[in-house]
Amino acid sequence: MSYNRIAVYGHRGWAGSAIFNALVASGAPVKVIYRPGSDVSSVPSGVAKVELDIEKQQQELVAALQDIDIVISLVGHEGVLRQHAFVKALPRTNVKLFVPSDLGIRVNDEQGLRVPVNKTKQEVVDAAKKAGISTAVVQVGCFAESAFSIGIMGIDYTGNRMVFTGDSANQLVNICTRDYVAAAYASIFARTPPAELAGRVIGVSELKATGSEIAAALKKKYGVEPHIFKHSLEKVDNEIETCIKNGIPLSLAWWCRKTWGNGTLVKSIGEEIWEVEGYPKATLEELLVGDKLSPYRDLPPQIKQAFNSTIH
Ligand SMILES: NC(=O)c1ccc[n+]([C@@H]2O[C@H](COP(=O)([O-])OP(=O)(O)OC[C@H]3O[C@@H](n4cnc5c(N)ncnc54)[C@H](OP(=O)(O)O)[C@@H]3O)[C@@H](O)[C@H]2O)c1
Repeated sequence: MSYNRIAVYGHRGWAGSAIFNALVASGAPVKVIYRPGSDVSSVPSGVAKVELDIEKQQQELVAALQDIDIVISLVGHEGVLRQHAFVKALPRTNVKLFVPSDLGIRVNDEQGLRVPVNKTKQEVVDAAKKAGISTAVVQVGCFAESAFSIGIMGIDYTGNRMVFTGDSANQLVNICTRDYVAAAYASIFARTPPAELAGRVIGVSELKATGSEIAAALKKKYGVEPHIFKHSLEKVDNEIETCIKNGIPLSLAWWCRKTWGNGTLVKSIGEEIWEVEGYPKATLEELLVGDKLSPYRDLPPQIKQAFNSTIH
């Protein structure tokens, strides 16, 4: 199988930088499309780079994509809406597959689709389908680095505290380290013929654990039971609605916890799990007890405080 020619948008993000490096290391020809002002100093000299504003420079974007097979977007939340610029441009190119930024869980419920970032991501996928663009989406559940440390899922690894939401003590959560996801992107997109990936929701799973298993790992690490708080699904429902109504960004965190607590999270990465051949998967024990968990990015104090306020 020959290599796919890949364009990456969002090469510098927390998840995107590791994925970009893995794609480059795979040997596939990679081109970086970046917005004016982005830092490209870490892009290896052999990698093609094109600076453009994808919304304002459509013609240049179409030209930059003429020799590309797969467009992979890795933009963070603020950039999700901009991906409509790819939807406009791609029908005028020979690109065979568009992979919008997702890296979460498939959203099937009405409330989940009202969570702003979920809604915006889904609108991009829907617009791409409507435009006849072949699309593939990668779902990872939760990144270990954020799920265990910043409180988004109600787990505070360093503080030995966690929240059980609904039945999350007995329900599985799907977890991947950033390195595993990066290896998965390279394994999926470097050589697989784009036609084989079109229309697919591809799940990536490094490990799965129940809330009780995570609590047991914390106990093993600290020698004492973690401080457990319990939230009912009704409470979480109210939190989601309040956040949506008032534009509070925590709606995503509460909704993710709800999907864990009602057992839908693990199913929402789809049934089709992509295994990365030869990659030694991390275990819960290695990450939480063996201190192999890499730090997440540094968050502003007000965001840390906001997550912290949801664990009580
Ligand atoms: N499931 C999980 O647990 C989880 C956790 C984290 C992230 N994610 C998902 O992973 C994906 C990437 O997230 P991330 O946190 O890694 O992203 P990030 O660090 O915020 O990504 C920043 C990248 O996106 C680009 N970008 C940001 N805002 C932009 C804008 N307005 N216009 C154009 N480009 C913009 C940046 O370009 P510049 O270089 O120009 O700054 C940079 O390359 C997202 O879909 C996110 O939802 C999932």
